Amino acid sequence: MFFYLLNEDTELRILTMDDADRLFELLEANRLYLREWLPWVDKHKTINECKSYLKLLNTHFKNNKALHCGIWYQSELAGVVGMDRIDWPNKTAEIGYWIGEIYQGKGLVTLSVRFLIEFAFVELGLNRIEIRCAPDNHRSRGIPERLDFRQEGRLRQAEWLYDRFVDHIMYSILKEDWENNHDPQFDLLKD
Ligand SMILES: CC(C)(COP(=O)(O)OP(=O)(O)OC[C@H]1O[C@@H](n2cnc3c(N)ncnc32)[C@H](O)[C@@H]1OP(=O)(O)O)[C@@H](O)C(=O)NCCC(=O)NCCS
Repeated sequence: MFFYLLNEDTELRILTMDDADRLFELLEANRLYLREWLPWVDKHKTINECKSYLKLLNTHFKNNKALHCGIWYQSELAGVVGMDRIDWPNKTAEIGYWIGEIYQGKGLVTLSVRFLIEFAFVELGLNRIEIRCAPDNHRSRGIPERLDFRQEGRLRQAEWLYDRFVDHIMYSILKEDWENNHDPQFDLLKD
């Protein structure tokens, strides 16, 4: 079971089928807010669609293609952070995230992404992590910017968002950037 305690209130736990009800509840409570930036919200309108999604994540995990965790805050499911498109030959992966509206502003996603970066470089041996954000999604852009990702450029019309294309700003961090700049006092992987 993939499970990490990030601080006394916050833990990351791999999502399993047992989380279907809680995940669905969180989605139901946040649909309009999430829909502003996430293209898949309308495809998960029933508990069965949520279960199919979890099943797919489980298959990707078993095939070493992805790792999606629930962010648990004070024992409640607050959001999801995931490493996707793991490309082993090129040692790259992409990180994505979302959190319930009431859990914003506490640093939960920044903390979770900080952990996943460390995990990716130290435990998985990856070399490059990407995060993509829509240009106007300022809260999302705050995460790679807070974690010293480098802004590489703008991917034009990279995503269809219900009724329009949106560009993506591409951020990345390399293992060498992280090794040279991270402060070990904030490392989260324990011996
Ligand atoms: C994008 C999203 C995850 C950002 O959430 P967030 O709460 O701003 O991010 P964090 O949990 O890292 O919290 C950072 C905020 O907490 C504050 N904070 C408090 N304590 C903190 C700490 N210890 N460390 C870092 N930040 C802290 C920061 O100042 C920041 O607030 P500010 O932007 O008002 O300055 C969230 O808005 C969301 O889910 N949006 C909808 C879905 C979405 O857009 N997903 C991304 C698609 S690319």
